[in-house]
Amino acid sequence: MVHYIPWGEDVLNRCISRQREGKLPALDLELTAQCTGACCIYCDSKPTVGKAHCDELTWELLHSLLTQCKEQGLEWVYTCGLGEPLEDGNFWRMVEFLKANNIRLSMFSNGIFIKDLATAKRLKEAGVCIILKMDTFDEDKFDIILGAKDGVKGRAKKIYAARDLLLEAGYARDKKGSDLAFSIVPTSLAIDGIPEVIDFCEKNRIFASIGELEQAGEVMKGNTLLELGLQSGQIDQLKMRANAYASPLCYMRPICPSILTGFHIDHIGQCLVDRITGLNCKWFLLTEPDVKIIGNIRTESVKRLYDKVIAYRSKSFVDNKAVIDGYLNISYVFGGCGGNPKNIVELTRKSL
Ligand SMILES: C[S@@+](CC[C@H](N)C(=O)[O-])C[C@H]1O[C@@H](n2cnc3c(N)ncnc32)[C@H](O)[C@@H]1O
Ligand code: SF4
Repeated sequence: MVHYIPWGEDVLNRCISRQREGKLPALDLELTAQCTGACCIYCDSKPTVGKAHCDELTWELLHSLLTQCKEQGLEWVYTCGLGEPLEDGNFWRMVEFLKANNIRLSMFSNGIFIKDLATAKRLKEAGVCIILKMDTFDEDKFDIILGAKDGVKGRAKKIYAARDLLLEAGYARDKKGSDLAFSIVPTSLAIDGIPEVIDFCEKNRIFASIGELEQAGEVMKGNTLLELGLQSGQIDQLKMRANAYASPLCYMRPICPSILTGFHIDHIGQCLVDRITGLNCKWFLLTEPDVKIIGNIRTESVKRLYDKVIAYRSKSFVDNKAVIDGYLNISYVFGGCGGNPKNIVELTRKSL
């Protein structure tokens, strides 16, 4: 199994040691919340979401954020969260800034806006690592996942085209690890096709990132959870295939360095942490986010916000010890956003 470079142990260890030295090695950044290219059945991003937030970050604010982070030692930007990064009007300016300042970017993307080889090459040349949405190669089923219920078909085809363009542009050829991963959400619609996606990953030096379904937002509405949930036999079978892929290890999604180093800024400039732990990812428990707003980059400096995050996290791990101890019993089958809670808590305790 090839590892995804931004989630490699070397990057994680370096981020932890840089944080101990008082640096800010990682920024967990939400770009626009808007996603017009798809309407996934399990996702809370809808074409209208970003439009409701006209106060999303301007280039001036984003530039100021990145410049301040750079002064604090920024090495990696991780964009996850809602929305499609390639739909953010500041995306390419941000990529140029990061490239010029030797800062790497890892982004989740649906790939729908990677429409030609020039775009794929531009991403590759800027050193952008990509986790491409790829639940299944069954086009009809993937179209349903991507929201065909709204009457729009053909989205899966665009994602498969992006996959091919990225490979043609030179992605997944690095000997040390891979700059390309596939994000696979195991659901009843995708399950039969996942072994084929893993086979493709194995053949093409792509990391297969299997991330469990979050039981939040859209998933909890109507019968979605019932429709998408898996039978235990299906989970066991997929776990066996995933273990064979990860052999000699057991498959578990790696810890994303941005969950415990650096800090999280959302699409309107708020600095957020998980309320109980003070960790940066609000989705790591795969349930409805419960956040504490630490401040906003519009009114406070990066340095001040980061100091507040570190202080909040350290205090939370003491004050909420009993609840956090309970997380040590949470071990997912494949891992969720940011990794496996048990491993995240253990590592954070060591690194605080
Ligand atoms: C929210 S999307 C944002 C980035 C981009 N639009 C994309 O689709 O990759 C980030 C990742 O979260 C995953 N995702 C969305 N809703 C989810 C859910 N309810 N449970 C688990 N993963 C989910 C997507 O499959 C995607 O890989
Ligand atoms: S998972 Fe990504 S592509 Fe799908 S609706 Fe959400 S933001 Fe859009």
